[in-house]
Amino acid sequence: MSVDLDLQGIRDQALRNLLNHLNDSVTDQWNEIAPFEAVDYTDPARAELERDKIFGETPFIVAHTSELAGKNDFISAELPRNKVVVVRQKDGSVKAFVNACRHRGAQLVSEESGKCRIFSCVYHRWSYDPNGELRTVTLDKTFGDFDRSKFGLVEIPVEERHGFIWVIDNAQREIDVAAWLGAEMDAILADFNVEKLVSIDPHTYRRPTNWKILQDGFLDNYHVKYAHPNTAGKMLHTNAVTLQDYGRHFWFLTGRKSVDQFIGHDVTWDESMEKHTIESCYLAPNTMLLKHATHIEILTFRPVEANPNESIMQMRILAPTVQDSGLAQEHWKKRWKKNWNFLVSILHDEDFPILDGSQRVLSSMDAGTMLLGRNELSSHLFRREVDRLIYGASEA
Ligand code: FES
Ligand SMILES: [Fe+2]
Repeated sequence: MSVDLDLQGIRDQALRNLLNHLNDSVTDQWNEIAPFEAVDYTDPARAELERDKIFGETPFIVAHTSELAGKNDFISAELPRNKVVVVRQKDGSVKAFVNACRHRGAQLVSEESGKCRIFSCVYHRWSYDPNGELRTVTLDKTFGDFDRSKFGLVEIPVEERHGFIWVIDNAQREIDVAAWLGAEMDAILADFNVEKLVSIDPHTYRRPTNWKILQDGFLDNYHVKYAHPNTAGKMLHTNAVTLQDYGRHFWFLTGRKSVDQFIGHDVTWDESMEKHTIESCYLAPNTMLLKHATHIEILTFRPVEANPNESIMQMRILAPTVQDSGLAQEHWKKRWKKNWNFLVSILHDEDFPILDGSQRVLSSMDAGTMLLGRNELSSHLFRREVDRLIYGASEA
């Protein structure tokens, strides 16, 4: 699928909208305030629906291409429905498997990442090729005969596209990332050239928080100067968003404070505007991508199994390689280490305490009805997609 998306035109218009919004202290809005109940974040029955109807049916990102750079490189991941291992094949393709030995179910891979020519089970030493085929059954004369071709590792649908590795967490499904993204978002991601970047030290967090609270927290442009007054709030604007809704996924532009110099001027978008703005994408169901002038940040959120009170958040910095950056290796390393330290301190000191606290108090039996404001457009659209996936509401 491809489309001639006029990205220059979209960025031009968005930049003008953003400057007008900043001038008038307004933002793009949803058509109404939406009330909601705490139970959306605590109900085990709903969490089960989310696990199966969202993560068991839709493609989502589990890694950047560079994390599986060479053949036999693997990562393991805890997905809501399956614990998986994703492996780069000899021919350059990628396969994903349930991380369980087909003998009696021992965990095959315990490392988060590595390189392996053969997966050998720690329990009775059955072994598997990187393509999932069962290679060795130990003491097979006494074990008995069976059709080994039927007892390879169970495959999970996986696809590599736009520099990311996507899966559907369901062995019974087929994956088509382009169809899921739709023509517009597929074209936007193609424009970002993510496959030329490298993933630097991806961070995984297990949080005592519903995955939707985390996703909402990172879509939220309303909290910036209130929750981050001395960090992000100093550099970024609050409550000023201009958004393109593609029906399921969406793209939006927000401003750094330095964009103020263009308020009241007739400007068009060019690359120099990248350092004054942030282009973001919500990739349904669980991903936030932020494109900065120098790098991309990508955050993914998913529940731990069907537990409404626990999730896994992964954060990645995708940056130009040392070579492409033109920096000396040491300087490059220092630069991204500093960037990570800054992000991690905001997360731990500012975002996590607020978001974890929400989860704790939303377990209150009498929390009362709460409100999502018209200015919280991104969260309305996120909610629209989640509801559509789990309750099958009509297509946009
Ligand atoms: S469980 Fe893996 S070899 Fe027995
Ligand atoms: Fe925040």
